[in-house]
Amino acid sequence: MASRIPQSFIDDLLDRTDIVDLVDGHVKLKKTGRNYSACCPFHKEKTPSFSVAPDKQFYYCFGCGAGGNAIGFLMQLENLNFPEAVEELAGKAGLTVPKDDNVTSKAASAASQAKTQARNQAYDLLNRASQYYQSQLRRHPDRQKAVTYLKGRGLNGQIAQRFGVGYAPIGWQNLMQELAPKPELEQPLIDSGMVVEKEENKRRYDRFRDRIMFPIKDYKGRIIAFGGRVLGDEKPKYLNSPETVVFHKQKELYGLYEARQHERSLKRIMVVEGYMDVVALAQHNINYAVATLGTSTSSFHLERIFKLVSEVVFCFDGDAAGLKAADRAMHTCLPFMEDGRQARFLLLPDGEDPDSLVRQEGNDKLTARITDATPLSDFLFQRLGKDLDPHNLEHRAKLATDASPLIAIIPKGIMRSMMQARLSKITGLDKDTLAELSALKAPTPLPAAQTLAISHTKTPTSVASETTQATAHNSTHEYADYHMADANPELIEDTHHRHNETHYTASSEDHSLSAKQHFSATLPKVQNPAHAAIRIILRHPETVEHINEIPSHLAELKMQDAGVLTQLLSTVQTMRKALKRWPNPAELHIECSTWDAWPMLRQLAAMESLLPQGNYPQQLEEAISRLLGHHFEERFNQLMHLASQPNADANTKKQLKELLKEKEELQNRLKSRQ
Ligand code: UTP
Ligand code: MN
Repeated sequence: MASRIPQSFIDDLLDRTDIVDLVDGHVKLKKTGRNYSACCPFHKEKTPSFSVAPDKQFYYCFGCGAGGNAIGFLMQLENLNFPEAVEELAGKAGLTVPKDDNVTSKAASAASQAKTQARNQAYDLLNRASQYYQSQLRRHPDRQKAVTYLKGRGLNGQIAQRFGVGYAPIGWQNLMQELAPKPELEQPLIDSGMVVEKEENKRRYDRFRDRIMFPIKDYKGRIIAFGGRVLGDEKPKYLNSPETVVFHKQKELYGLYEARQHERSLKRIMVVEGYMDVVALAQHNINYAVATLGTSTSSFHLERIFKLVSEVVFCFDGDAAGLKAADRAMHTCLPFMEDGRQARFLLLPDGEDPDSLVRQEGNDKLTARITDATPLSDFLFQRLGKDLDPHNLEHRAKLATDASPLIAIIPKGIMRSMMQARLSKITGLDKDTLAELSALKAPTPLPAAQTLAISHTKTPTSVASETTQATAHNSTHEYADYHMADANPELIEDTHHRHNETHYTASSEDHSLSAKQHFSATLPKVQNPAHAAIRIILRHPETVEHINEIPSHLAELKMQDAGVLTQLLSTVQTMRKALKRWPNPAELHIECSTWDAWPMLRQLAAMESLLPQGNYPQQLEEAISRLLGHHFEERFNQLMHLASQPNADANTKKQLKELLKEKEELQNRLKSRQ
């Protein structure tokens, strides 16, 4: 249980804190009437929309909507949780946060205090370690070796100092002797990651020996870890601090503090791979580079970056590993791409890194590369479209299925719309179809057991014969159960796909009725079976495998869109022959996108909620059986009518006989399948 801070203390604390002083310590405030204003520290802006009201002791930003009291301000600014912010504010006010007398919260608060203490101790030790390493660069007998190395890498003393670069001398106990002259002081050094204790013999020694030392700082400039590079070719080339109470490498960016120190209002941040890249770039006056610490760019990183700037450039080697890293960064970036933000990708010539390149080309040429770096939208299409031929159906389909789920991750806005439009243009598929494809990529299957249990309760036979009976006995209700409840009349209007028989009695009630049918494993009876079949085929073209033969008379059926269904069935089979496998939905959609009936097909494919999930082959068979049942009824009624005429000829009677035989066969076939 977390410790509870008494409300009375919080009130007292807020009473003693002036939010104007607090904020002014972080962003320069200007008096504007009763309030104070500044450029918002929480988002990037040129004209101030951030204001502080002294009478209300409240801050608010009209630009980004950030707002709150003094505690909220610290939480947001320094990324603290509530107790941490209270702790810090209490420290400033000279107060001690009281402990609740409750035993558990006492323990919790003791634990949190112990943690704070451990952290403070680590900060202190790491800071002293850094001082020590820097002093060794000036004083150690081997200092020339280290200085020569740094000079050889093009770094001058000023840059080395700005980044606090130091030297960890040869030897096993240098830092230990310096910072823990007594053995009882060694444990904190182990905890801070600077001293290693061998498990077998408990021998303790300095982690970093004979290495160039790069201190890693947090957002406040506190040293939280080190990276150490060998001076020669020994392995490992870089050694890093382990995870400690103050260091979480997933979250930190090397060089961010230094970049902000150099230029408070950064315009862009460039993410590179190595310590040396950051420092070498700064040496050439490119002061906005940061490095991840041997990890890929994480969401934590991007959150932090986009809090400070609206533009990020990722810089990677042009080799296979660099491309892979760039792809990963692109994925991580997608959910952050709100309008107004930019991410760009710079792939360097093979074998070069920013350090080697800036030394070769200098600032101007590298800056030009950075300015010309590929925007995320282009990069995404470049990467996904590589080796794909836009004239090839399969390739376009692959692009559609790969790109649409990625584009869907981008927050709603201009960027997403533009990328969707671009994908539409390349693939020839409209926005809604692409949205469908992105949904298809991540199916959410029903639990198998549930699907099975339900599918046994209704078989194709029972449904088909029920339908047959219903229509046979009440011809005025012909198709009554297929009154297009599954199709939104507005959408159908939109399709310019006119039908001879219109049964547009659909209402919103009907719609909700069929939406509820979602949970039944067999087809809703209110659905036109041709539509049900089309829908299944468009989403699961491979189910056509289960249709042994396309009944030739299906196309003659007056049932709405039965003709389109036959066309679709034969198209899938033709594609199967050409591709030597079943087409995927994207391929099929592209193939059908030129048909007159396509708008209607697309609408059908889009109404997923109307398709019971689960056994699609069975559903398709069921739909086709129902259609055949209908076809039978159509002919039966027609022949009955003819046969009942006084002048009925023998041929009509013969046909009627044949039809009844056909019905028997159909029923037998359906029965045998049970
Ligand atoms: P690189 O191997 O690309 O080295 O490591 P580099 O940055 O070009 O280094 P120099 O120019 O030879 O000095 C990139 C980053 O990967 C991590 C470090 O964070 C390094 O900056 N790394 C690399 C390690 O952690 N350990 C290693 O042994 C190597
Ligand atoms: Mn390098």
